[in-house]
Amino acid sequence: MKTNETAFANAVEWLANARRVVVFTGAGVSAESGIPTFRDQLSGFWAQFDPAQLATPTAFRNDPALVWGWYEWRRALLAQAHPNAAHVAIAALVRHVPELVLVTQNVDDLHERAGSKEVIHLHGSLHMARCFACARPHALPKCPSPETSASRLEPPRCCHCNGRVRPGVVWFGEELPEAELRSAFKAARNADLLLSIGTSGVVYPAARIPEIACEHGAHVVHVNTEPVDTAVATSLTGRAGEWLPRLLRAAFGASADL
Ligand code: OAD
Repeated sequence: MKTNETAFANAVEWLANARRVVVFTGAGVSAESGIPTFRDQLSGFWAQFDPAQLATPTAFRNDPALVWGWYEWRRALLAQAHPNAAHVAIAALVRHVPELVLVTQNVDDLHERAGSKEVIHLHGSLHMARCFACARPHALPKCPSPETSASRLEPPRCCHCNGRVRPGVVWFGEELPEAELRSAFKAARNADLLLSIGTSGVVYPAARIPEIACEHGAHVVHVNTEPVDTAVATSLTGRAGEWLPRLLRAAFGASADL
C-alpha cells in the first residue's frame, strides 16, 4: 500500500469530525472478496465478456439463455464469496458518525452480509429477478448450484404471465431506480464527507454522486488501487480492505470496533 501521509491525515481529521457521511462504493470494494471488477485490464468482467452481448435489454431479447446463464454464474460466484475488511469497516462506521448513507453501484449483497443496513443499490441486485414482460418480481433459489458456470441457461418463466424472467440489475440503456437515485443525490448534496471507494467513476449518472458532493462543499476522498486524477479530491491509493480499517482506527481509536 502506497502511503500519502498528508492525504491520510486529512481524511482522518475529516472523518473524525464529520456529521453527514456518504460512502459510495463500486466493484473495487468487493474485489478482495474475489468478485471481479468490470474494468480492471486483466481480471475485469469487461476484459473477458462483451457488455453489448450480456448487459442490455437487446442482448436478453436476442439470447436470453446466454444472458441468464452469465448472471447465474455471477450469483454462484457471489454465493461462495465473503465480505472483506472494507465491507466490515463500512458497516462499523455507522456506529461512529451521526449520519451515514451507503450508496453502492454493486449488485452483490456483501455490504448487507457485513452488517450494513438500508444500502442504496443504484444498479439493482443479482438476487432480485423479475419478469421481462410484466415486471413482477420472481423469487430465486437462495444459492445457485455450485456447478453453474458461465454457460447458457434457459431463464425461468414468470408464474403470472409466462414471460421470461430477467436479472434484477440495471442494464446499459436503462434508467436507474428513481427513488434510489434521488435519495443518493440528496445525501450527496447534504454530505460533509464523501468516501468514494473502488469505483472507476465512468458510469453516469452514478458517477455524479462524488461530483455533487464536491460541488456542495463536501470533502471527497477516493480510495482506489489506481491513483485517481482529480484536482479537488483527496486520493488514498491502495486496497480498500487495507485503507478503510486503518482510517477508522486512526479516526476513532480502539473503539473503532472492527
Ligand atoms: P469498475 O470495474 O469500472 O472500477 C473498479 C475500480 O475499483 C477501478 O478503478 C479499480 O482501480 C478499483 N479497484 C480494484 N480493486 C480495488 C481494491 N481492492 N480496492 C480499491 N479499489 C480497487 O467498477 P465500477 O466503477 O463499480 O454497471 O463500475 C461502474 C458500473 O459499470 C458497474 O456498476 C456496472 C459496470 O458496467 C452496471 O452493471 C449497470
